[in-house]
Amino acid sequence: MTDASLPTSPAWTAVAATADVPPGTGRVVNADGRLVAVFNAGGEYHAIDNQCPHRGGPLGKGSLDGHTVVCPWHGWSFDVRTGINVDTGRIRVRCFPVAVENGRILVQVVNEPVCGSG
Ligand code: FES
Repeated sequence: MTDASLPTSPAWTAVAATADVPPGTGRVVNADGRLVAVFNAGGEYHAIDNQCPHRGGPLGKGSLDGHTVVCPWHGWSFDVRTGINVDTGRIRVRCFPVAVENGRILVQVVNEPVCGSG
């Protein structure tokens, strides 16, 4: 059961326990068959598409510095709040709504970029 204040469509999917994503780390999770990268940036949770638009590297396995994740394959960097590539400002990955409830991280898998601007 999700918080009554959360929009209900599309459905929220529990993807991990908050304890499994400590501050300063990320994790690859499965949200309804889609691989999503979830991050804990200083206690704020964010979710972006796991697949790097360069050559498909796993962004959820990248290193997190503040709000920036660095792809582990070739070093492209993305703002986990917006999915925007921090070097070009143009390339972006999808960004998904995140909520925390009862110690679980919930992700709403949507088809359009919904976080930040750009
Ligand atoms: S696959 Fe991510 S930088 Fe190349």
